[in-house]
Amino acid sequence: MKTYLKCIFYSLGITLLFCTAAVGQNTKVIEVKTKSTSLVYAVDHNKRLVFQYYGKAVDAPDSFLRQQAYPKPDTNRDFSYEAYPTFGLGNVNEPALAVINADGSLNTELAFEGTETKSPQPGVSETVIHLNDRICKFNVELHFKAYWAEDVITQWAVITNNENQPVNLRRFASSFLPIKAETYYLTHFYGSWAGEMNVTEEKLENGIKVIESKKGVRTTQTENPSFILSVNTPALENAGDCYGGALAWSGNYRLAFQVDEWKRLNITTGINPFLSSWTLKVGERFTTPEMIYTFSSQGRGQVSRNLHDWGRKYGMVGGTKLHDIVLNSWEGAYFTFNENTLTGMMDDAAEMGIETFVLDDGWFGNKYPRNNDDAGLGDWQTNTQKLPDGLDYLIDYAHSKGLKFGLWIEPEMVNPESELAGKHPDWIVQSPGREKITWRNQLLLDLSNPKVQDFVYNVFDSLLTTHPGIEYIKWDANRHVEQAGSTWLPTSEQTHFWVDYTKGLYSVYERIRARYPDFVMQDCASGGGRLDYGALKYHNEFWTSDNTDPLSRIFIQYGTNLIYPPVGTASHVSTSPNHQTQRMAPLKFRFDVAMTGRLGMELQPKDIQGKDRDFAADAIRNYKQYVRPLITNGDLYRLKSPYDEGGWASQMYVSKEKASAVLFVFSLEPHLRGVFPTIKLNGLDTTKTYQIEEINPNGRSRFWGDGQTFKADYLMNAGLELYVGGQYESAVFILKETN
Ligand code: DGJ
Repeated sequence: MKTYLKCIFYSLGITLLFCTAAVGQNTKVIEVKTKSTSLVYAVDHNKRLVFQYYGKAVDAPDSFLRQQAYPKPDTNRDFSYEAYPTFGLGNVNEPALAVINADGSLNTELAFEGTETKSPQPGVSETVIHLNDRICKFNVELHFKAYWAEDVITQWAVITNNENQPVNLRRFASSFLPIKAETYYLTHFYGSWAGEMNVTEEKLENGIKVIESKKGVRTTQTENPSFILSVNTPALENAGDCYGGALAWSGNYRLAFQVDEWKRLNITTGINPFLSSWTLKVGERFTTPEMIYTFSSQGRGQVSRNLHDWGRKYGMVGGTKLHDIVLNSWEGAYFTFNENTLTGMMDDAAEMGIETFVLDDGWFGNKYPRNNDDAGLGDWQTNTQKLPDGLDYLIDYAHSKGLKFGLWIEPEMVNPESELAGKHPDWIVQSPGREKITWRNQLLLDLSNPKVQDFVYNVFDSLLTTHPGIEYIKWDANRHVEQAGSTWLPTSEQTHFWVDYTKGLYSVYERIRARYPDFVMQDCASGGGRLDYGALKYHNEFWTSDNTDPLSRIFIQYGTNLIYPPVGTASHVSTSPNHQTQRMAPLKFRFDVAMTGRLGMELQPKDIQGKDRDFAADAIRNYKQYVRPLITNGDLYRLKSPYDEGGWASQMYVSKEKASAVLFVFSLEPHLRGVFPTIKLNGLDTTKTYQIEEINPNGRSRFWGDGQTFKADYLMNAGLELYVGGQYESAVFILKETN
């Protein structure tokens, strides 16, 4: 019997081989390469563009040319994964593209037409692959931009209708990536207001796991359009194959992870097609947002560093420049201030070494004064009761103190109680005949309407033209879409609202950046509600969360910096007890935590007096001298996760040339007497020795070897036992190479 079975298997094997050969070899290999990674596609014998590989760099185009697909059982189609799967070419998984053709038919079959490569700038290459439907005049371009040094590849699609009638797009993903491994572990981010970017990791099983937003605006408050995927093991910091992904889109998104019946993981990412079918008119092109990918065979630490390098250089404005230390008026004054309150804050800010003063919400509206959040939004004229001498008086005062002046705006929104709402009721997002739903007492302006785009642009432009002394804008957005509907879009195109809103927003940003390329803008939406690489492209930094409690921030910033660069992570020292959590924490702990990102303060500085004020001024000096350059351009190494057992968190930032570093250690809970963490450093040059010095000690040293010199090997393998064990105790050390 055994021999008989063997024979069957043997002859099956022969048949398989034979069939495979009959199926035919690939005819062309297309490689997208970076320093350490390869993404490979091939054109098969049927002119289909098929995925071959994404991972550690492989230099074997001839092997990929010979690589063959298995014949799919019971069909005349191959068992291969298309680069951009459509419905209608034997694809049974999540399609990247689904089209209702002009003739009403539902199938699309893309065939390879050609490819081209360009070098848009040094260190960046772009590959475009052209695909045409076999029947309809319907064209898809797949674009891949490879960032050599950063090991990042971005992808997007351009879909063109060359038929003589409109077609209807039902799905239009940016990217499709099929990964093959034994097991898949997905790290993703969830949260809410004042609790963004919580990290969770789950093993993916058969079926579809979806991360998405249908909120239209403020889409990253609940989940973030980014992830880390580790294969064959839960993600490790310094080992293992890990992919990082982030979608550059501030509107509705959908990231789908389907483990299919063949145990392959299909990752389909892009705009959420929810109520968004798109009519593509004759000759029109639809460009999807960019999907950003990176890969590392050395764990998720390198995934984050790749994304940070890419983000600083290509994904944000001024990402490699030192950022100012900011005092923001919000938590120190809220809506209740007059000129003296603000000039007093500026006096204190200047004395402590702060560089920019930002006047937050509450400075505008006259007929409907903005004294709380129920009125005035939309009326961007200075409130003459609170600020009788106007903005220029405050700007000049700031300058006289050596400070820059920044201002808060929320130009996409309107309170029903405002002059704007009375003048332009048709500019408001609404659905005919239905009561408008408010959130934080406000409504959304319809950015799909070009007139609204002009208005929003002009809010920004006229403020800067009238007050050229303004050098920083905080751009806020405090609600999402609860009810879609545009008086501007025709009935047949109401489903375009979601995409057109975001494209409208981006077109305003484009105009702003064309005129003010280097101007400093903060991206804020009730905290981190618009934290994505689509918006970040136009901003210099982001308000990470309205939760300024240092313990909460350790977790929020840990999650945030898995994907987004520390230099953009606005991180402010606030008062104690904290306004959001009521938790008390020492000033040193609050400062040390805030110094892991873009340092700022957000309190009434008068409340910091005596020794505390000296400590604050000293910490700010230390930040400028030692820490800021490392946060800006250094490499982040996570040493202890706040999520791990033990109750500590630790991380360091190492300069690119490994000449200096800063180490942070935090105790998150009370530990038993004598229980201290041993911190093994990372990222140093093993041939070097480093001198270690504690900064912000506040009267007590936390390391027996403070001021001494150590070999990198010792620091990285034996590690340092640090006297940091009490609740909310912390320590910061500077390392400088000595040889
Ligand atoms: C929400 C922001 O996140 C806060 O920092 C503050 O600017 C308020 N809006 C003002 O309304």
